[in-house]
Amino acid sequence: MADAMGGARILVTGGAGFIGSNFVRLAAARWPEAHVEILDALTYAGNLRNLEDIDSKRLTFTHGDIRDPKAIAPIMSRGVTHVINFAAESMVDRSIDDPGSFIQTDTYGVYCLLEAARQGGIRRFIQISTDEVYGEIMAGEATEETTLLPRNPYAASKAGGDRMAYAYHATYGLPVVVTRCSNNYGPFQYPEKLIPLFVTNALEDQPLPVYGTGKNVRDWIHVSDHCDAIARLLEADGVDGETFNIGAGNELDVLKITATILERLGKPQTLIRHVEDRPGHDRRYAVDSGKLERKTGWRPRHSFEQGIAETIDWYAARRDWWEPIKAGEFRAYYEKMYGQRKAFAGGPS
Ligand code: NAD
Ligand code: TYD
Repeated sequence: MADAMGGARILVTGGAGFIGSNFVRLAAARWPEAHVEILDALTYAGNLRNLEDIDSKRLTFTHGDIRDPKAIAPIMSRGVTHVINFAAESMVDRSIDDPGSFIQTDTYGVYCLLEAARQGGIRRFIQISTDEVYGEIMAGEATEETTLLPRNPYAASKAGGDRMAYAYHATYGLPVVVTRCSNNYGPFQYPEKLIPLFVTNALEDQPLPVYGTGKNVRDWIHVSDHCDAIARLLEADGVDGETFNIGAGNELDVLKITATILERLGKPQTLIRHVEDRPGHDRRYAVDSGKLERKTGWRPRHSFEQGIAETIDWYAARRDWWEPIKAGEFRAYYEKMYGQRKAFAGGPS
């Protein structure tokens, strides 16, 4: 199937972010003959250091915004064959604080990229959507046919991009694939998200702020398994216009994740603080990835036990990566999001 990528020029938007940079690393190893173009606005979440270990002469970086047709056009004119759109505002709590920036990038930005792609020559356009577009799934697992019921501004903006990408397939015949993956963890994740925040806070002997009861459940997938699924969908035949869920079946609540982190780092339970809940906090996400498995033979390779141990060890070893981040803009963010947060009234504190 690697032949499917012959002569490929792959545009990875958001390639300096968490999942995007892991995907660029995979692409450089999997398709050494392909050229990878990165377009990234380098928001707070983008970091060129995420790419510095990738040894490839076939990598071009453009500092630019997916909402800016003038940034996209020169890249497309170099003969892009495949687009993977990772670029997004991605943090639910920030979306509650500032929904407008999410609509701008996660819906309008997708439209701008689709418009550029429809000018021709694209063999595949993968829109990286999210399992959060289904809203909370209280029982069973969402299939690709499950109704979309996004419940926070991040999820709703992503649903807009998800459906716009599909509309460009249905209306203009653009070869679009939409993916809806569950919660990723792994190296290079900005330390605002649960796992890197709690690992780095624990390493600094700082409190771990558990929202509400800590009983909210997510399905956790190692980022390299997510990237492998995307690579297979880039190579696959007969998937244009299709949507694929991607999940690893590791349903764990926040308390279990917290306990795993503290145990591996040998830190005390007394670091746990139950704080005021996130408004509209989705109780559970779960997806059925049977369609992806049947179509591409994909299976997640990391068990959660192995993946989380490697990930915790990576953050423990890479203080040089996260300490400068936590010393910068992050401080003001943390103070704003957590400084005034009261103790959770409905349970243990
Ligand atoms: P991230 O926040 O770590 O990275 C986002 C990247 O996009 C950053 O490099 C940022 O600079 C860039 N970016 C933001 N706005 C941009 C714009 N307007 N133009 C160009 N670049 C811009 O996000 P992530 O966790 O790596 O997620 C990547 C994608 O995967 C997102 O689309 C997200 O919705 C989706 N996703 C994430 C998860 C997860 O668990 N992290 C799960 C499912 C889907
Ligand atoms: P997060 O990493 O923000 O991903 P998402 O909300 O997109 O699933 O959060 C994962 C879970 O962890 C979610 O249930 C919220 C919870 N959480 C906390 O309890 N405390 C925190 O400080 C953060 C960031 C998240």
